[in-house]
Amino acid sequence: MKKTINGIEIQIVQGFVELSQVAAERIKQRIMQSDKTSLLVPTGTTPEGTYGLLAKESPELFRNVSFYNMDEYCARSDDDSYAFLPIDDERSYHYYMKRHILDASPFITSFFPGIENIKQPGSYDKLIESHGGIDLCLNAIGEDGHTFGFNLPGSSFSSETHLVKINENTKEVNEKLTGLETPQYAVSVGLMSGMSANEVLLLVSGKRKAEILKRILLGNISEDIPATILRNHKNCTWIVDEDAASKL
Ligand code: GLP
Repeated sequence: MKKTINGIEIQIVQGFVELSQVAAERIKQRIMQSDKTSLLVPTGTTPEGTYGLLAKESPELFRNVSFYNMDEYCARSDDDSYAFLPIDDERSYHYYMKRHILDASPFITSFFPGIENIKQPGSYDKLIESHGGIDLCLNAIGEDGHTFGFNLPGSSFSSETHLVKINENTKEVNEKLTGLETPQYAVSVGLMSGMSANEVLLLVSGKRKAEILKRILLGNISEDIPATILRNHKNCTWIVDEDAASKL
């Protein structure tokens, strides 16, 4: 079912299973449409179903596919330097990606933002650009409207890849979902980085996202709710399940 809210067309699907099927199908189509595909990808619970379906495809499908992750956790030491969590730390997004999709195909090329983005914000953006940019971005939102990784409320619409201090609210939500302690810092792509993608697939699932989705679609476009920037994207498909759409 399609519904138009405040000029934005949203596709309402029944639940998480259908949402994951629609997303996986579009990603598969996009991959088959050209010789080479670059995907900007999130972590979290929302894309798990989509990765699960893609992991069942032939490993060959991913022969010329690059995955650019949006973010990775890091920790600050006493001397003010930062280091990523070890990749075998189960809280790390390297670990998450390996478990959900990367192990399914030896052909996937995988990138993560590097630590140099702390001193030189935007280094990852330059790398992505030098590889030809992002064809499709799979995206999700947090309950406070954060999006494209960890662009928390107050993030600049013109931000590139940078260091983020994770706020208490996001820490609490993520700890409840994963049962693991959430690190205090991350390197995340910025809002401008994400908006540079040629196509965005935004997935919103579950009752806990209903209130923020209503505010994203009906409130002002503002850095206070970073995901409102998606209303300005020229090619964003909003895929929302019935629970998340229940307040629209
Ligand atoms: C985390 C991730 C984001 C993700 C968001 C939503 O903060 N860094 O990439 O989009 O949470 O998580 P969930 O899908 O579990 O609600």
